[in-house]
Amino acid sequence: MANVVLKWKRPETIEFPKVWHTFKAKDLNTDELVEYRIQDLPTNRVEDVFEHMMANYIQDEPISQVLEGSKDPNHIEDYKLCWSKMAEQKVPLVCFKEGSDEIVGANMLFVLKKDDEFMQAACGLFKSQVTKDLFDLMMILYEDFDTFKYYGVDEYLTSFGLSVSRKYRGRSIGDHFLATRKKLCKQYNLKLTHTFFTSDYSNQNADKVGFETNVALKYEDVIKAHPRFSHIANIKSKGMTLKTLMC
Ligand SMILES: CC(C)(COP(=O)(O)OP(=O)(O)OC[C@H]1O[C@@H](n2cnc3c(N)ncnc32)[C@H](O)[C@@H]1OP(=O)(O)O)[C@@H](O)C(=O)NCCC(=O)NCCS
Repeated sequence: MANVVLKWKRPETIEFPKVWHTFKAKDLNTDELVEYRIQDLPTNRVEDVFEHMMANYIQDEPISQVLEGSKDPNHIEDYKLCWSKMAEQKVPLVCFKEGSDEIVGANMLFVLKKDDEFMQAACGLFKSQVTKDLFDLMMILYEDFDTFKYYGVDEYLTSFGLSVSRKYRGRSIGDHFLATRKKLCKQYNLKLTHTFFTSDYSNQNADKVGFETNVALKYEDVIKAHPRFSHIANIKSKGMTLKTLMC
């Protein structure tokens, strides 16, 4: 566990949990507009967010979905290992609807520093082949792209899971989560946010808020070049990307 460490620390001068963004969108079951807020994930809701991520993210994120990761307790444990470190950094965001404590969505954000060995160290501890495959697919995108070098930065805001509860999808809440990252970057003094996007829906969210595409690969081309991934052939999205938003 020694190197599964995120070195960046949230400045103690920034209030926690902070509300970063509010917006109006349709309520459930009616067209009435109600207020939603995107805020820091409070410490006492971390376990609830893990439950939300298991029910709405692991089941529907295209790579975990096609590899049936939700049926693999080790895959869930691997994710939880990473998410708990992110929660300790106090950077993840959660969305609530006015007057309710139901989790509408979450974005498991963290700040990665150039000399962190976080993902590599976590990968060494992953127990599930599904998580290892997910990581290897991500590494294909990074074969010829180094975010730190390309943008000349030593740290950036990134993510390991964007999720909106199934019943709240279709309200562009993904756009709101991604756009809110700009406010975090400003306050944390970070120049950019950068993410591995695996779903057509999240790729659309990112394009709508102005992320630039660094690398894009179609899953069918990945399978042609790396036949060991033929078991993802039935994946429900077209491609995976690396995308960046300058803040
Ligand atoms: C990515 C995600 C957060 C986007 O949710 P969102 O912001 O509510 O999506 P949008 O409002 O932009 O939805 C646009 C349309 O796509 C539909 N849609 C969004 N996500 C969908 C999904 N996973 N499956 C089917 N349809 C979906 C919406 O219902 C909406 O349809 P409409 O135009 O007919 O109303 C959501 O799909 C999700 O939680 N997916 C599971 C986890 C995942 O894949 N995360 C991203 C990995 S990088």
